[in-house]
Amino acid sequence: MKKEIIVIDGPAASGKSTVAKLVAQKLNYKYIDSGAMYRCVALYKLENNLSIGQLLNNIEKIKIDFDNNNHVFLNDKDVSDLIRSTEVSKLVSEIAKISKIRAYLVSLQQSYGKEKGIVMDGRDIGSVVFPEAKVKIYQVASVETRAKRRFNELLDNGKSADYLEICNNIKKRDYDDMNREVSPLIKVDDAYELDTSNMSIDEVVNKIIEIFNEKVK
Ligand code: DC
Repeated sequence: MKKEIIVIDGPAASGKSTVAKLVAQKLNYKYIDSGAMYRCVALYKLENNLSIGQLLNNIEKIKIDFDNNNHVFLNDKDVSDLIRSTEVSKLVSEIAKISKIRAYLVSLQQSYGKEKGIVMDGRDIGSVVFPEAKVKIYQVASVETRAKRRFNELLDNGKSADYLEICNNIKKRDYDDMNREVSPLIKVDDAYELDTSNMSIDEVVNKIIEIFNEKVK
């Protein structure tokens, strides 16, 4: 299989990571979750009790790796679960606004892309990290669809969930992602917009593989 870079950008909870993992599996590519990297920086700040200034001074001490089972390691420690905590989720959008942090993570992301053969999802991957990528997907779904998916996911995991609260949360994250000054979420001209509101996961994965096959010959 030819080694390329597949980019999947889009708003929060649009199912990017589920789809990106499956696409990577099918092509025998590596999956890189760029959102997990912003979460790692937030976790590092919390664990070391750093001010933003101290965090910026120590940014290069942060080492982030992914294994082939979609686990993420912060300075060699598996933090795959820790980065999903409420504290990290609350802090991460502040972290993602800081241009020095973005510049550091973008350089790490570009280094993972050197060998190609990767699927990376995020917000600015097609616009900033890999503007030259041949396969760019902009994955969207209606707020209601995304909230319903998240609601069912929480119930399936035995947790309580409030549909309206989830809807409002998603709308706020969309607003924050699309309106921040540095690298806001945008659909670049050469990205294929895929509205997954009425599609199953398999249909989305197959569509992306079809686009990959068309673009990469
Ligand atoms: O996709 P996620 O919820 O794990 O992303 C966590 C945060 O990082 C969220 O605030 C959006 C931000 N992010 C970003 O600014 N750029 C990316 N490439 C990926 C995520």
